[in-house]
Amino acid sequence: MKRVLTGIQPSGTLHIGNYFGTIKRMIDYQKDSELFMFVANLHSLTTVDDSAALKQQTLDAAMDMIALGVDTDKSFFWVQSDVPETAELSWVLSCLTPMGLMERATSYKDKVAKGIEANLGLFTYPALMAADILINQAEVVPVGKDQKQHLEMARDIGTKFNNKYGDTFVIPEPDISDDVAIIPGIDGQKMSKSYGNTIPIFGDPKAIEKTIMKITTDSKGVDEPKEPEGNVIYELYKLVASEDETAAFANKFKQGGMGYGDAKKELAEKLLAYFEPFRKKREELAAQPKEVEAILAQGAAKVREVSHETMEKVRQATGLKY
Ligand code: ADP
Ligand code: TRP
Repeated sequence: MKRVLTGIQPSGTLHIGNYFGTIKRMIDYQKDSELFMFVANLHSLTTVDDSAALKQQTLDAAMDMIALGVDTDKSFFWVQSDVPETAELSWVLSCLTPMGLMERATSYKDKVAKGIEANLGLFTYPALMAADILINQAEVVPVGKDQKQHLEMARDIGTKFNNKYGDTFVIPEPDISDDVAIIPGIDGQKMSKSYGNTIPIFGDPKAIEKTIMKITTDSKGVDEPKEPEGNVIYELYKLVASEDETAAFANKFKQGGMGYGDAKKELAEKLLAYFEPFRKKREELAAQPKEVEAILAQGAAKVREVSHETMEKVRQATGLKY
């Protein structure tokens, strides 16, 4: 079984673009791989300086992932800051990382270009990410385009360490998701927090239905035949319905007789039903914060066995163990 690792930055309300774009894929790895997943709150600290917000976002992200299907018994699921060895390894790795390598990080350059005031943490962000991956001896890291360069850096740094001090780390392979479909938002652009066009996964079903009713369409009348492909209502329906249901829905578009209002209602019904079990689980978790803390404590203890073993090797190899 391959060991697959990923970190999720806790960054607010999840939408169905996040789910079908990434989260579902991660959770599906549990079927045939060993999943290592964590809430990357140390990474968030590079940009979030509101203590209450960071705390809440961390717990929310943990509850979201558990509700969406992370199996906390079978998989490794934890909060990054509960494993201090990661920060220790990050320091060790930063001592063999050339400045030039970090200076080439496009995500750092982008953030600076956007006017985000750079701190040292933001600059060394890829070294911490390398530590997350290498300390757990991950074999596969699924990455979107934006994280591809960071993974290459992790590979470079890991290889450099192995060459210098002897084989210590597994060098991870990327699993690049270039072909992930872009989920459209209610205005037809890519669904994104920054465009304000999202359909949230969790939250009040009535409010979600209202959002769905706002999907932008052309002005075709009820009786007119409509093209399903590329229509936001149809594209979203496809994600949450079976093949047969989708085919029947496409027919109703093509034949005419179904207005966009009715199509949206059908979509709302299907979409809410699809996420209903997740929403229930999310509510249960929110009502039991102590349970959630216990799950996270257990997760941290479990993964620390792995990180501890790696760090022992690192301390030996580098001479930190005297
Ligand atoms: P947002 O664009 O809302 O700020 P993020 O940048 O935080 O979302 O994305 C988190 C993850 O969800 C990323 O892996 C990204 O690729 C995925 N994702 C976000 N929006 C979409 C979308 N519309 N379609 C497919 N995947 C998406
Ligand atoms: N940097 C990643 C992001 O912003 C999150 C992350 C932190 C991560 N450590 C990781 C992803 C290790 C994969 C592997 O999305």
